[in-house]
Amino acid sequence: MCGIIGYVGEGQATPILMDGLSRLEYRGYDSAGVAVLEGKRIKWEKTAGKLHELARIIKNADLSGTTGLGHTRWATHGVPSRENAHPHFTLRRRIALVHNGIIENHEELRRKLRKRNVKFVSQTDTEVLCHLIGVNYDGCLLAAVRSALKRVKGSYAIACISVDEPGIIVAARMNNPLIIGVASGGNLVASDIPAVLPYTRRVMFLDDGDVAEVRGDGVDISTLGGKPRNVAVRNVQWDVSTAEKGGYPHFMLKEIHEQPRAIAATIAGRINKSADDAVFADFGLSDAQLKKIERLSIISCGTSWHAGLVGKTAIEELARIPVDVNIGSEFRYADPILNERTLAVGISQSGETIDTLMGLRRAKESGAKALAICNVLGSSIPRMSDAVIYTHAGPEIGVASTKAYTTQLAALGLLAIRLGRLRGALKRGRAAELLAALRQIPRKLRKVTANDKLVKHCAERYKYVYDFLYIGRRYNYPTALEGALKLKELSYIHGEGYSAGEMKHGPIALVEDTFPTVAIAVKGRVYEKMLSNIQEIKARKGIVIALATSGDRKIRKLADFVITTPETEEMFSPILTVVPLQLLAYHIAANRGCDVDQPRNLAKSVTVE
Ligand code: AGP
Repeated sequence: MCGIIGYVGEGQATPILMDGLSRLEYRGYDSAGVAVLEGKRIKWEKTAGKLHELARIIKNADLSGTTGLGHTRWATHGVPSRENAHPHFTLRRRIALVHNGIIENHEELRRKLRKRNVKFVSQTDTEVLCHLIGVNYDGCLLAAVRSALKRVKGSYAIACISVDEPGIIVAARMNNPLIIGVASGGNLVASDIPAVLPYTRRVMFLDDGDVAEVRGDGVDISTLGGKPRNVAVRNVQWDVSTAEKGGYPHFMLKEIHEQPRAIAATIAGRINKSADDAVFADFGLSDAQLKKIERLSIISCGTSWHAGLVGKTAIEELARIPVDVNIGSEFRYADPILNERTLAVGISQSGETIDTLMGLRRAKESGAKALAICNVLGSSIPRMSDAVIYTHAGPEIGVASTKAYTTQLAALGLLAIRLGRLRGALKRGRAAELLAALRQIPRKLRKVTANDKLVKHCAERYKYVYDFLYIGRRYNYPTALEGALKLKELSYIHGEGYSAGEMKHGPIALVEDTFPTVAIAVKGRVYEKMLSNIQEIKARKGIVIALATSGDRKIRKLADFVITTPETEEMFSPILTVVPLQLLAYHIAANRGCDVDQPRNLAKSVTVE
């Protein structure tokens, strides 16, 4: 998605803007630009393509000034081009604007503005908003922004500057993330935390409907209606090195290896040993409110949807409460049956995925309580929810989700235990066993991440095949789906995840001696069934890469390759079994020279439909 950075203060803006944009690259973009204010002039440069192209252009430009805006654009209206790149300007460049989101009524507004002889140079909805602010400008940028936004339908995070008001950035947000970094010597506006970390850890999170006037020495936040708002300054724990690659070739590999720490951080303080129960501080819903819940409706997308499928199996097994799992883009246009006894659970790494956010909003309108399971502090989905469980994976920069996924599974495991104990469906002794197993997961994960020799061998051997099949059952059916998604989004090879029991209902026709199948066959309720599936494939000369439990000798007689993970409770096995599949996809993609951290056509957070 688009990346926004703004700076106002004592320093030169351009180097800060370019540095900030480089830390937002992971969001995915196809053009970039900057604008700085010096005296009575706004100077700017922008280009289609990547930041290094913009840097080359800027080298020969004089972009001096202490107030400025920068932007990386992910095209939604209008092709990636210099004209469509942000910032956009009013006539004679008196106002500059950068924007993330979609102005849904931009055509109607464009028609009205044309009647006022406004000339457009781009195809973007953003330029419409910029001119709308311009025609409403009457000496006060804050008032003009408010007037314009009252006429806008859609989602936005914006920042704008005016030659008539040097030293001021006006920012606003609706359904798109925007933060303010409070630094010494100046203040920043940005789409996400990594962009401000080199300058400050003190961050203010704007809420939907907030408008901010940001000066070098202060910030005033109010509602769209003009009512002042007192927004807390939070101290973000992430430091710059956390968001750096830490010596790994790619953010994704670093984040795969960070998973033991991420799981440990996510479960820390959430295991009540004396009560053999899970505990969530600042949860947001009381035990009495939770006891009234008769059903959970999980709403999520992509990898987070796979996490929801694992959560369903765990919560239904331990808490004996029905759980349905919904793809966000399906849920929001369906006719779900929810009420105040439903707990809608939004699972989202970014907390900004529009389909999950709007699905959760839809559920709340039906009376359901909302629980967010999210990795980004203060993002939109937690802020709209009644209860929150934050995963503590730290910034996930790689577009392909890895540590966010496994920490979601840990959080869902804790939630299943909590609900089971609260409803009396899970005996104390069994809860104690599960919690003890969960505490061992970080240590066991380290063994898996350290042992990727066989995975690398398989990646080298099968990097040119056209199709992979992934099969699993019960807790590891979602693992098969996730492994296939990782392969697709990283290496651009087609991978398909399937319920192993469905093999004979079609996919087995694919099997031949050049066709690899990854079979997740760890010890558990469906182990023997998985062995049968592997035998079916081998009987047809198919290749089998099996994921098995350490010490399993039986499977070695059947599969071509056996990648092992340490034994654990079946409900936590997906946290371990997904890691070799993350590594398999990573190594195949790296071997194929793919852009591992920013795969083509993908964005880290899908904040527009
Ligand atoms: C994960 O590898 C994908 N990039 C994607 O499916 C992602 O999980 C999905 O877009 C949901 O994102 P969220 O967790 O931030 O809501």
